[in-house]
Amino acid sequence: MMDQELILLNPGPACTSQRVKDALLRGDLCHREPEFSELLFRIREALPRALNLAGTHEALLVTGSGTAAMEMAVISSVRAGRGVLVVNNGVYGDRMIKIAKAHGIPFDEVRSDWTVPASPEAVAAALAGRDDVDAVICVHHETTTGLINPIKEIGEIVAAHGALFVIDAISGTAIEDQDLAEVKADVICGTANKGLHGQPGISFLLSSARAIERFHEAPERSLYLNAASYLKSDVPFTPAVQVCYALDEALAEYADQGGFEARTKLYRERAALVRGQFERLGLRILVDERFRSNTVTMLHLPESVTYDRLHDELKKRGYVIYAGQGQLSADFFRICTMGEIPWHRLEELENALRDSIAAARG
Ligand SMILES: Cc1ncc(COP(=O)(O)O)c(C=O)c1O
Repeated sequence: MMDQELILLNPGPACTSQRVKDALLRGDLCHREPEFSELLFRIREALPRALNLAGTHEALLVTGSGTAAMEMAVISSVRAGRGVLVVNNGVYGDRMIKIAKAHGIPFDEVRSDWTVPASPEAVAAALAGRDDVDAVICVHHETTTGLINPIKEIGEIVAAHGALFVIDAISGTAIEDQDLAEVKADVICGTANKGLHGQPGISFLLSSARAIERFHEAPERSLYLNAASYLKSDVPFTPAVQVCYALDEALAEYADQGGFEARTKLYRERAALVRGQFERLGLRILVDERFRSNTVTMLHLPESVTYDRLHDELKKRGYVIYAGQGQLSADFFRICTMGEIPWHRLEELENALRDSIAAARG
């Protein structure tokens, strides 16, 4: 019998600290009361600061998962009669195409293999001579495979063209080393959970002045996900108040622990620890070392081991792993070191993995 807490090694929802969980119990609050306005103000100040974007990007919060933020960002960044260019090398790039299609927004794609970072040159070629592209959309960390796309280089190209650069940083914020202040990004999407260690259910957009101007020019394609409606001092619809409490606490915890530098260092150290274990156990990683993220590792399933057996054996030992997506589901699995995880539980993962692989074969 397992006598310790289950550690989630899936890329969200991620485990959270007791401090953040306790914040959920701060009490009932009406979102039209001044106490909620103060809470919202505090979060909207803290979010850009946490990601080195204070003074350049304004935060808006939406109750909904990361996909709500992405859908809001895409449909609010495009004027009538214009389209988007989607950089697509994974499930989440694909999702941007689905969003564009769902709203009848014209789109083009720059596709690359799921294990190869997007090419800035290919983006430049796709944008050449195109004055009908209002936004370029790119996933920073493709959670599908644990692959990092070169958003800084792509941002330079998009800025030279003049389109808005919209980044899905949902699984990268406060995790990946790239300082977002160095990226020419107009809209950055993230969520409360994942790298910020809040609770899932709230997501956000960090938007430049150019992007905010665009939000007011774009047609209202959705009542709920219209970014312009969220830029006012209060929220247009009933928010997940308790999840906001938890985000407020998670942002305070993040600052107390040393902010961006400390959090990204922690993620680097965790990745090094578990990848050393994978190497010792002979588990092969799909993505080349140069392009790996700080959280997700996509691993080949060991010989004669199915994902389901491995998952169940590891769960008995206190860990939840994650399946591969799409074309990678049959032969691969993912381990993600995201959220609040005691260091010793990551150290103990090696034995749990060794034992689980043996049991799954047996
Ligand atoms: C890169 C990326 N984009 C978008 C999403 C969608 O977020 P959600 O499942 O919260 O809607 C995820 C979720 O893992 C993600 O990793």
